[in-house]
Amino acid sequence: MTRHFLRDDDLTPEEQTRVLDLADEMKRDRFSYRPLAGPRTVALLFDKPSTRTRLSFSVGVADLGGNPLVLDSGSTQMGRGEPIEDTARVLERQVAAVVWRTFAQADLENLARHINIPVVNALTDEFHPCQILADLQTVREHKGTLAGLTLAYLGDGANNMSHSYLLGCAIAGMHVRIGAPEGYHPDPVILTRANEIAESTGGSVTVTADAHKAAESADVVATDTWVSMGLEDEKEDREAPFRPYTVDEALMAAAHPEAIVLHCLPAYRGKEITAGVIDSPQSVVWDEAENRRHAQKALLAYLLESSDNPEPETR
Ligand code: CP
Ligand code: NVA
Repeated sequence: MTRHFLRDDDLTPEEQTRVLDLADEMKRDRFSYRPLAGPRTVALLFDKPSTRTRLSFSVGVADLGGNPLVLDSGSTQMGRGEPIEDTARVLERQVAAVVWRTFAQADLENLARHINIPVVNALTDEFHPCQILADLQTVREHKGTLAGLTLAYLGDGANNMSHSYLLGCAIAGMHVRIGAPEGYHPDPVILTRANEIAESTGGSVTVTADAHKAAESADVVATDTWVSMGLEDEKEDREAPFRPYTVDEALMAAAHPEAIVLHCLPAYRGKEITAGVIDSPQSVVWDEAENRRHAQKALLAYLLESSDNPEPETR
């Protein structure tokens, strides 16, 4: 079986812990694991802009002994309509794994169905699961644990970060609270899945339109841009409904006094978060950005090791 990481719940709670432990180990000893030595190549495909994901996967694959091949889809035949199924056949004979940032989750799932090497979600419209692994590693570093902690996410409840917090934090046994305006609440199917997971891990899931209620006594306060990539046309319309969800000093006063602040970045100061909060000592966003590399290295090593066809580049 080939292991993929298309959404947060592709890892069981035990596997998530294993990956986070491995990420800590790799952070302590950067070149300790060399599963891509050869070097074997990992294709990093981007249909949307990226700074952190591009950097952290490129450096991370090199750390693992491999060769990162960054491709902007617009410069490939995928951008001219070559079928995903055909691209899959070509990729699996050249590279050890594929990391893809794209729009539709369905396209990522289609690629994974037609390929015999691990596929990793580097962000879709629906999920951003690699980011959540890095976030969980960061929370564990600063709080010592995950299970039982409360994470409040303020802003666009229907975006990739919200959906991935719901699943990823539920898997970790955390209490997830989404504070979002009406009309921007999470996909009910994902919410149901998160509730189902939380029941088995001791976590919980809440969605509210009341920002302060969401943040009350929270151990972790997280936010994200109000305008995700691909939604630029909605920028003006979103300003008024999202304004009450700004993570500012007043909102932080409702959280636990030792709460930490997460933001996947890029951040828009004065919109979803104030400069006073993101640049305060409570903010751990730079650790979070660094941890992308450690968490993704651990994930890649785990997927390669737990797939039963670890070296399929030739047929
Ligand atoms: N957080 C994140 O994924 O950043 P980039 O869009 O810069 O990759
Ligand atoms: N929700 C944001 C995350 C950026 C890393 C987006 O999709 O643009």
